[in-house]
Amino acid sequence: RRVAVVFGGRSSEHAVSCITAGSVLAAIDREQYEVVPIGIATDGRWVLESGDPERLRIRGRDQLPSVDGDRATIALAPEASSTGLVVTEPAQPPRTLGDVDVVFPLLHGPWGEDGTIQGMLEMAGVRYVGAGVLASAVSMDKAHMKVALAAAGLPVLPSVTVTAAEWQRDAAGCRARAAGLGYPQFVKPARGGSSLGISKVHDAAELDQAVEEAFRYDPKVLVETAAVDAREIECGVLQALDGTPETSVPAEIRISGDHEFYDFAAKYLPEEHTELDVPADLPDDVVTRLRELSVRAFEAVGCEGLARVDFFLLPGGDLVVNEINTMPGFTPTSMYPRMWAASGVDYPALVDRLIRLALA
Ligand code: DAL
Ligand code: MG
Repeated sequence: RRVAVVFGGRSSEHAVSCITAGSVLAAIDREQYEVVPIGIATDGRWVLESGDPERLRIRGRDQLPSVDGDRATIALAPEASSTGLVVTEPAQPPRTLGDVDVVFPLLHGPWGEDGTIQGMLEMAGVRYVGAGVLASAVSMDKAHMKVALAAAGLPVLPSVTVTAAEWQRDAAGCRARAAGLGYPQFVKPARGGSSLGISKVHDAAELDQAVEEAFRYDPKVLVETAAVDAREIECGVLQALDGTPETSVPAEIRISGDHEFYDFAAKYLPEEHTELDVPADLPDDVVTRLRELSVRAFEAVGCEGLARVDFFLLPGGDLVVNEINTMPGFTPTSMYPRMWAASGVDYPALVDRLIRLALA
């Protein structure tokens, strides 16, 4: 079987995707699968990569891996093989990837986790790992995700959406809507990930700067009530080969040091020492509720394959769904694979199951 692993991409989570790919490429069973590593550069060019996992490691704050796209482009071409995927290199005839059996889109954020590549693969008739077009698109957009989750009766935090156009037209009105949520708040790009562009707002005076920062990532932002003194818990969902969504043990994130929240540095930089309790130390009834809510969230957006559902456990004992991630991070420090390892599915088995699901 030939598996195309696609990584990098145009979003701000490019580097995270590269690290994710490094881990997956190292874990994939080469006896069973022939791997075709395809990088997408930040400018959108597609490159046939060496796929050397060593190259795709994070080395420190200023040494994030990336794909440099000076070699190839990819196009959907009518002369393609049955899969419809063609990689072309400048001044050379199109080179088909041959019979790619399945694509593993290890992309995070817009142009990858948002239904766009999923749509391209649907058009080309190629199987792929993970959520389809709609579930990816809905889950990528925090405003629409909340609508879908709330409509299914799942608890979410109150928020307001502000677009760049509204902000320009009527900033005072936007500020008033945001103020109605109370403080503290979080301001988030609607379609982002890895906490990039997110700021905590402690009072009205901090809103403008937070909104402007989030607009650097997305012309649509969310202002959300912060869950004060909440515990941050995550749960993995993975389909069985018959399609039944199964859940991992939940895990807890405990942020230490200078981080006011689980920001980019706390998530990925090795020196930051965020504590991950896998599994989380929680009463059985909370674990049961978490697992039920995770499956309901997975089904509410029509997810497939895998997802990581992120929660807040409020001081009073209530759970709220923060968000659902359809292509959660797979880096060595990432929660999703660690939660599954603690649930009896180790990293290579997880990768294998995802590929099998896509082929089923
Ligand atoms: N957006 C990052 C990759 C995550 O959810 O893990
Ligand atoms: Mg996310």
